[in-house]
Amino acid sequence: MSRPHLAGLKGKHVVITGGSSGIGLAIAQRCAAEGAFLTLISRSSSKLAAARHHIASSLSCNPDRIQTKIADTSNATTIISAIEESFEWKPIDVLICNAGLAMAGMMGDVKEKDLDLVTKTNFLGCVYPIHAAIPLMKQRSLQNPSSIVIMSSLAGLVPLYGINVYSPTKYALKGLAELLLLELLPWNIRVNLVCPSFTKTNLLEEEYFGGNEIIRTIGRKLYSYNHKALESSDDVAMKTIEGVKTGEFLIFTNAQGASLGPLTRGLIPSESVGTFIIELLLMVPYRFVSLLWFLNAKKLVHKMNSKTM
Ligand SMILES: NC(=O)c1ccc[n+]([C@@H]2O[C@H](COP(=O)([O-])OP(=O)(O)OC[C@H]3O[C@@H](n4cnc5c(N)ncnc54)[C@H](OP(=O)(O)O)[C@@H]3O)[C@@H](O)[C@H]2O)c1
Repeated sequence: MSRPHLAGLKGKHVVITGGSSGIGLAIAQRCAAEGAFLTLISRSSSKLAAARHHIASSLSCNPDRIQTKIADTSNATTIISAIEESFEWKPIDVLICNAGLAMAGMMGDVKEKDLDLVTKTNFLGCVYPIHAAIPLMKQRSLQNPSSIVIMSSLAGLVPLYGINVYSPTKYALKGLAELLLLELLPWNIRVNLVCPSFTKTNLLEEEYFGGNEIIRTIGRKLYSYNHKALESSDDVAMKTIEGVKTGEFLIFTNAQGASLGPLTRGLIPSESVGTFIIELLLMVPYRFVSLLWFLNAKKLVHKMNSKTM
């Protein structure tokens, strides 16, 4: 077995955007349990204070190991300052760009300002902190391996119907991660692209499946959405941290995700020779499966929409 990229998180400084709830909070909790120092970044001071209290009290750890920073990832000035200040507290070993938003609705129906907010938060909200962190991380990376983790989604590999720019912003993160993978090769900074499936947090429960019957039905039939069988944020956190330690580029958090690997890996090589061979063998059957998926999607979208036209 090859050596892991990071042996452990004890004493490491992990910065998490969107660390105040859901998946980000679960990752923070696990990092703290391993002895990491944490900076949690989000927009709401009360959610940040509650998250810090929750982690410190549930693990009986010193709250001074956790700092919080109020910043909006869609605002370049505030998020760049938050990253620079985090680095002044302690050099950053792992930057996790996790903050994200979704707004339900079809592309032609939602307001421009909402499209703007989701695009900026999800895409530029990863670009800005990475842009600020890279020069600082590079300086010490040859002695200290470090990682940049980008929270995408299976919706960044398969178009998620009814949620306007959410899916496209997550696709864009794959492009960002692939570019960074090449750009950072000379430094000891690993890039990880995490692609969770539907996870039990506030994000999709309320935003995606909240109201619209067409979207709910298509979600169930096309993506096997089942609100009783969602991934837990703790499972996603566990798989994310495992993948960051081993240094995997594409991190899938469940079997549904892993099964999409062969179709969605693009130009990025497989993690091992074994995976490469399996993916090669699956390529032809997968082209048939994707054709069947698309034909089914076409039928379903026509059928559901014809009822309301
Ligand atoms: N839930 C899923 O099914 C699922 C699946 C795949 C991927 N993901 C991805 O996982 C990430 C976390 O989502 P989640 O499900 O854990 O949702 P969540 O519970 O709603 O958490 C979102 C976090 O992001 C923060 N945030 C949102 N907008 C922000 C902004 N502009 N600036 C700074 N912080 C911001 C929120 O805090 P404040 O409100 O205080 O700012 C919160 O801490 C997202 O990128 C999401 O796309 C989720």
